Amino acid sequence: MTLKKINPTSTNSWKKLQSHFNEIKNEKIVDLLDKRTDGKSFNLNWEDFHVDISKNILDNTTLSLLFDLANECDLKDAISKQFRGGLINETENRAVLHTAVRANEDSNIEVDNTNVIPGLNQTKTRIKDFTKNILSGKLRGSTNKAFTDVVNIGIGGSDLGPVMVVEALKYYSSKLNSHFVSNVDGDHVLEVIKKLNPETTLFVVVSKTFTTQETLSNANTIKSWLIKKLNKNAVSLHFAAVSTNQNAIQDFGIKSDYVFPMNDWVGGRFSLWSAVGLSISLSIGYNNFKALLKGANEMDEHFKNTEFSSNIPVVLAMLSIWYNNFFKAETEAVIPYTQYLSRLPAYLQQAIMESNGKSVDRSGNPVNYQTGNIIWGDTGTNSQHAFFQLIHQGTKLIPCDFIGFKFPLHKENTQHNKLMSNFFAQTEALMMGKDEKSVNNELENSKMQKKQIDFLKPFKVFEGNKPTNTLLIDKLTPKNLGALISMYEHKIFVQGIIWNIFSYDQWGVELGKQLASKVLTEINQNKISKHDKSTTSLLNKYLSN
Ligand code: F6P
Repeated sequence: MTLKKINPTSTNSWKKLQSHFNEIKNEKIVDLLDKRTDGKSFNLNWEDFHVDISKNILDNTTLSLLFDLANECDLKDAISKQFRGGLINETENRAVLHTAVRANEDSNIEVDNTNVIPGLNQTKTRIKDFTKNILSGKLRGSTNKAFTDVVNIGIGGSDLGPVMVVEALKYYSSKLNSHFVSNVDGDHVLEVIKKLNPETTLFVVVSKTFTTQETLSNANTIKSWLIKKLNKNAVSLHFAAVSTNQNAIQDFGIKSDYVFPMNDWVGGRFSLWSAVGLSISLSIGYNNFKALLKGANEMDEHFKNTEFSSNIPVVLAMLSIWYNNFFKAETEAVIPYTQYLSRLPAYLQQAIMESNGKSVDRSGNPVNYQTGNIIWGDTGTNSQHAFFQLIHQGTKLIPCDFIGFKFPLHKENTQHNKLMSNFFAQTEALMMGKDEKSVNNELENSKMQKKQIDFLKPFKVFEGNKPTNTLLIDKLTPKNLGALISMYEHKIFVQGIIWNIFSYDQWGVELGKQLASKVLTEINQNKISKHDKSTTSLLNKYLSN
């Protein structure tokens, strides 16, 4: 059950999309919008999600050709293989089953002819009990005090998912304060622990491999700090761990009741649903964590069972391919209009760029087309006062996802209406722009001199025609957040399938890691071996007094 290897550029639909692109590329979105008779295809409604894709440079032909492309690349077959546990992560010889972790508890999903669901249910029960016992004060620190703080020690997928979700669902917080330590930079860990009371702090070490330099260094620094502040016996009561590497955890001194397993068929950047989400559960309570999983699972079902034209992840993925491969857009921005989602762009950067930043296809040949998009963004309205200038008037085409919520959590409607008026106005402004005539009228009305008007006019014109997707969701609940993250996960998958690449490995992070370990030995021994001229000179500078 491996993936088919189809070069998308060899398909008929790709060729048709190329000529269709030449016909439509200079069309105005607003004209296309007016011409559309079938508004339905451009507005997708599912549960609490309303996704408006109508502010894009596309028409019905574009959509149907994009779906033809998905069919020619046999996306349906790929989806079925992923959900059934096929070995679709071929370079690591693994299935890809983060969807199993959030599947219904009575499902049957097999890996090596064994149903993995009972094992996953067991882990969930342990997360639930552990969360309850920590929050109720039944499990306490070494001086018998209840825990007040929890620190997640991990990096990459063992950090970005939990930190994003904990921030996003802060409104639903339990009584524990959450902290995150990720960087190998000692200043990071020391800044975090300097404010903490060791007697009331629980540390959760999260590392799929339990070999990651950053995580082990931070865990060891904290362990020494804890032993100094309390004593050696405190380690087993203040440390929990999440990993596939059970032996390494035991060596660290964490007792088995505090150890939570992971499976190798859950990739790091897709792992927040698994025991990696332990700090999420501690932060928002197990019931909210479960609701997060439920939302993700419902999006999985939508993705698995819905025809492409109404399938939110498929439509967003194909649109992204449209801009990436035909308009040659290099980047995409994600702009959530809620401060709670401030960490979403950083989370998506790993999920998307570590997955689809590949230049070799599934047959091992260099690709002759563009793959992974560069993802960036920040919250609205902050980003309007930062980088929106470039989106409105710069030289680059940057398709954007605008994510907003109908209802605010704190019921502060006056401010919410202000926030949302910006949300709607920005996509309208990006599409409509402002032509010379309007600028001229505006300046004339302000009684400006003609000479000054002629000078100023070109700077005040907005070309417009900037594409956006609007995701209007009812409310930021754990369930809706789960669905939103799952939506992006499936978008990544679809794009990887079309681009004929392996989305679930990450060989590209290895080279730098290997070299860093060699350089560290040289630094520690104060003996620089052979490097290129630039690196040698930099290392000498670093080691000089
Ligand atoms: O950056 C590479 C990577 O392997 C990520 O894919 C992963 O999320 C991260 O390192 C952390 O790995 P681990 O959980 O094994 O410590």
